[in-house]
Amino acid sequence: MKDIIEKLSRIENGFKSTKMSNIKIFDSKLELAEFFGKLLKERTAQSDKVNVALSGGSTPKAIFDELAHRYADSINWSKVHLFWGDERCVPPTDVESNYKMTMDHLLSKVDVPEVNVHRVLGELSPKEACEKYNQLLNDKLPKVEGLPQFDIMLLGMGDDGHTASIFPHEIQLWNAPGNCVVATHPQSGQKRVSLTGQVINHAKEIYFLVTGEEKADKLDEIINQKSGSEAYPAALVSNPFWLIDKDVAKKL
Ligand code: 6PG
Repeated sequence: MKDIIEKLSRIENGFKSTKMSNIKIFDSKLELAEFFGKLLKERTAQSDKVNVALSGGSTPKAIFDELAHRYADSINWSKVHLFWGDERCVPPTDVESNYKMTMDHLLSKVDVPEVNVHRVLGELSPKEACEKYNQLLNDKLPKVEGLPQFDIMLLGMGDDGHTASIFPHEIQLWNAPGNCVVATHPQSGQKRVSLTGQVINHAKEIYFLVTGEEKADKLDEIINQKSGSEAYPAALVSNPFWLIDKDVAKKL
């Protein structure tokens, strides 16, 4: 019954409910930012604390800029606690850092209290950064059925079908024990700390933010569960909302 109610509410919110997924296609990143701003506004009105795991990479930049521009004053940011779904093992000042990207495009423009920002300590060794983040998640998030639970999980997807920093060549890390794991970028060899599949799928609400024509084929394979798509970590995310643009939706 809960599933049916949830499905209906998703349709009411304008999600196109296909046989597998809930998809909302936006004309622009601005519209996508508007949707996410409204969501955060709603959730912070309903609760004293909203724990959000942010995605990294480049997609969020324009969305975070719009969010900061339009919602700096209309969201109670003191209720928002920010974490990351994954982080590169670099210092927080490094151009590669997802924390730095978020600082540049969002944190430097809205009043999220510093104590509400829970970054991966990318300046430490990958092993240490992972152990500390694992503990931080246990300390800061509510435990539900023994696992830390996020309220909102924002995920990106690479054109190879990775999500967070779980890549196809290391898909077994999706099922790693614990809250996070050290992963390796397939091309650069860069070490990263990534949430594990069990924590990602345990979030109350999971939103993929995916844009760009170069990901259209992969998105089609995953959403329509084409054969072989189970090899992509993004396909292992359970019951996400897909917030996508028209370019990436081309093949659906
Ligand atoms: C990262 C991410 C990663 C990202 C995808 C999409 O640290 O890079 O968290 O999962 O979301 O690679 O990246 P783009 O938005 O740059 O396409």
